[in-house]
Amino acid sequence: MSFMVVNLSEQYTLLSDWISEIRDEEVQKDRMRFRRNLERIGEVAAYEISKTLPFVEKEVQTPLGTANCKALKEQPVITTILRAGLPLHQGLLNFFDKADNGFISAYRKHQRDGSFEISLDYVSCPELEGRVVIVSDPMLATGASLVKTIQYLREEGHPSEIHVVVAIACTVGIEFVLRSEPQCKIWCGAIDDELTAKGYIVPGLGDAGDLAYGNKVQM
Ligand code: URA
Repeated sequence: MSFMVVNLSEQYTLLSDWISEIRDEEVQKDRMRFRRNLERIGEVAAYEISKTLPFVEKEVQTPLGTANCKALKEQPVITTILRAGLPLHQGLLNFFDKADNGFISAYRKHQRDGSFEISLDYVSCPELEGRVVIVSDPMLATGASLVKTIQYLREEGHPSEIHVVVAIACTVGIEFVLRSEPQCKIWCGAIDDELTAKGYIVPGLGDAGDLAYGNKVQM
């Protein structure tokens, strides 16, 4: 895997525990825990991304004197793909608490033959010109919706850098994103090898949106 991909569960940390919980079909019955674990993964990803961003020195007046401190130079824009991305988004926002926020609806429009195309039909974003943009989506499966979203953000908004945060990615999805959008950096909670014909990651965890918010019906 290239240096543009970070697998956050390569090290033995609490994050691996949360990944095992979101995968576990027994623990998944507790929707609040599922959402909170995704949020915690977003928090860890935010902390790791912050290590790559520019900081400025600043003096802070304490009650006892002056402290030399460091502060994030510019606030990022956190953008998520509705609806499944919301808990990860909240986790990123818990840490980047002064960030601006964008929301995009990208969904799989299924055809009768089982194939699908990505439909992008709602976008609400702040100014992106020259800014660091972080896009979150819990499952990087085929990569089709992420690539469509990133292309839109890049062409319409011209961000300076794009980070992608996912809870679980599969190898083919990562390769597709990096082939289509070689400048972006992908932060993954875990990486799986298999993808079903219907675009589900194996072993993965199932449908992240349904697990977080309840089963949907196809309209
Ligand atoms: N979206 C999901 O929710 N799960 C997958 O396995 C793939 C895409």
